[in-house]
Amino acid sequence: MTAATLRVAVLISGRGSNLKAILDAIAAGQLPARVVQVISNRPGAAGLQLAAAAGVPTAVVDHKRFADRAAFERALEAQLAAEAADLLVLAGFMRVLTADFVARHRGRLLNIHPSLLPAFAGLDTHARALAAGVSEHGASVHFVTAAVDGGPLIAQFRVPVRPGDTEDGLAARVLRAEHRLYPQVLAWYAAGRLALRADTVLLDGLALAAPVQFADTEDDDA
Ligand code: GRF
Repeated sequence: MTAATLRVAVLISGRGSNLKAILDAIAAGQLPARVVQVISNRPGAAGLQLAAAAGVPTAVVDHKRFADRAAFERALEAQLAAEAADLLVLAGFMRVLTADFVARHRGRLLNIHPSLLPAFAGLDTHARALAAGVSEHGASVHFVTAAVDGGPLIAQFRVPVRPGDTEDGLAARVLRAEHRLYPQVLAWYAAGRLALRADTVLLDGLALAAPVQFADTEDDDA
């Protein structure tokens, strides 16, 4: 008997390249999941077109139309309830979710962040990494908790910072890493290998002492 296919809802705010990487991994047979809905808080998000082109139902819950975060999240929950996905995936979703929302979805809510957390939580991570003079940067996937960018880390993809790197060049290198990292973590989840117990990430039933690390062994700038 095969396990039921994981049903995923993806929340976006913009471009949607991580969404595309997830859809591509599913199409390539590398991720036994189905994206059942894509929800954007921004009506003009390019990722909505990507989703529609892939035949995925889309919805917009425009945060600007609600008086406060709680009202916005009630509308978001109503959209999510329509599909009742197994897993919520934040992919460039630029709204902070309340502690109540996060608690309701605890253990079933993932985010990707463009830095090696806990370094550079928040915005403008690439510029801040360059300004700090770090030799390594990257991306992290974590379970979402009420601490913004602070939830238990699952895996990271490290990329080198090169002499003369620009913000755009570094951002592009990290984005390629994100596109490899997120589908991999989702595949673990889809296979039932990943869970959150209290504040501990379990992979194959074992507590992770540190996030799983990936890095390129070859030059990926070609
Ligand atoms: C990514 O860098 C993601 O880590 C960050 O926002 C960006 C979204 O890119 N949170 P995209 O919309 O997936 O192309």
